[in-house]
Amino acid sequence: MPNCFDEPETDRFELFDLFFSRTDERGIIRSCNETFVRVSGYSKEELIGAPHKLVRHPSMPKAVFGLLWSAIQQGQPLGAYVCNRTKNGRLYWVFAVVLPVEGGYLSVRLKSTSDVQPQVVSLYRALHAAEEDGTRDVSQSVEALKEGIVALGYNHYADFMTQSLCRELQSRNDKLGRALLRGLGGLITLNLNIRAIEVDAENVRQLFKETVQIPYNMRLEAARLEGADGPISVISSNHQQMSTDLSLAVERFHKSAGLGGDQMRNATFVFSAAMLMAEVVKGLEPEAKDFELLRELQIDFAGQTEEAVRDVTARASAFSCQCKDMRRMLTGLELTRIMCKIERAKFTGATEGLDEIVRRLLISERKLSAVMTKIEDSVQGILQAATLLHRAEQNAA
Ligand SMILES: Cc1cc2nc3c(=O)[nH]c(=O)nc-3n(C[C@H](O)[C@H](O)[C@H](O)COP(=O)(O)O)c2cc1C
Repeated sequence: MPNCFDEPETDRFELFDLFFSRTDERGIIRSCNETFVRVSGYSKEELIGAPHKLVRHPSMPKAVFGLLWSAIQQGQPLGAYVCNRTKNGRLYWVFAVVLPVEGGYLSVRLKSTSDVQPQVVSLYRALHAAEEDGTRDVSQSVEALKEGIVALGYNHYADFMTQSLCRELQSRNDKLGRALLRGLGGLITLNLNIRAIEVDAENVRQLFKETVQIPYNMRLEAARLEGADGPISVISSNHQQMSTDLSLAVERFHKSAGLGGDQMRNATFVFSAAMLMAEVVKGLEPEAKDFELLRELQIDFAGQTEEAVRDVTARASAFSCQCKDMRRMLTGLELTRIMCKIERAKFTGATEGLDEIVRRLLISERKLSAVMTKIEDSVQGILQAATLLHRAEQNAA
């Protein structure tokens, strides 16, 4: 039998095909759409009442389903790349979104076409091999799956599944020649800027740490050049006091830089899922129970997205004031440098030590200013994207 990792996909289904199925709490299929029937090769009668593992491909690692069930049983949605097998043994890859609903779960699956799936294939192959030869049990394999995802450069699995779903939707849209889904571009921009601010706030913290030694070095130089209590000693003790205040401010700034990334990421995932649902709904009969469930989920997800955008806007506005405070405090570094330079001009002897301090202050100042500019741009990026999303919502209403 072909395995999922070496064999090309053998079943053909189209980009616009979206699979839908609903199960009870044990994973027994209770309803499904025509696409699932056609591609799986089973009749509707064979599918309804059968466990969803009917389409399981044996080379899929158990870890993926372990992670799936632990998420959905806790009421969380999950997205994963899954290779399935049709009735006649052919295989097909999908990106599956599985969501808890009243009385069970439902799933929407789309053909995976982005560049993410090939990265996952080698991870799945290694996981499956270790499960088969008994090196890892299922829970160890789940941990290895999460670690493997981090090794691919994602923060964690939730980050991976959100980015993957967005990439799959973008790739699908590009290939179908459709415009970017309304709102999704804005949410992606928000996520990117939130992440950039987290990284850059950490950079501010590290850069500031590099300046902590400066007052001590300055005092040593002052003692050598002018003895105790000369003007450079005074500059250095002022700078030390300022550094202490600044280090507290930097810590506060760093803390406030977390603008609700988790909430925004979850909202992006469910928003994307809602886009898929909206498309599935079009192909369902209005009287179907699924129609109602999907509609309710869409409303719920739209609410979650609106709330996340509102929260991030409020946090970003408050944070933009903190950026201004931080800028003001950083001008203190500039002041020390200028005063040092003025005092340095009064000495004719060996001032290399002082020159080096002035040079280091200038470098820190420039680096910190550059990072602050990046942060301020990201904050503006968030506020603009949020305004556009808000306008789009109002126009749609
Ligand atoms: C809504 C829903 C959709 C699912 N879709 C699939 C699927 O497309 N392919 C699959 O192999 N398993 C799917 N599963 C998981 C299966 O129930 C099952 O856990 C998996 O096939 C592994 O079976 P096993 O634990 O018996 O090996 C789905 C589960 C749910 C609740």
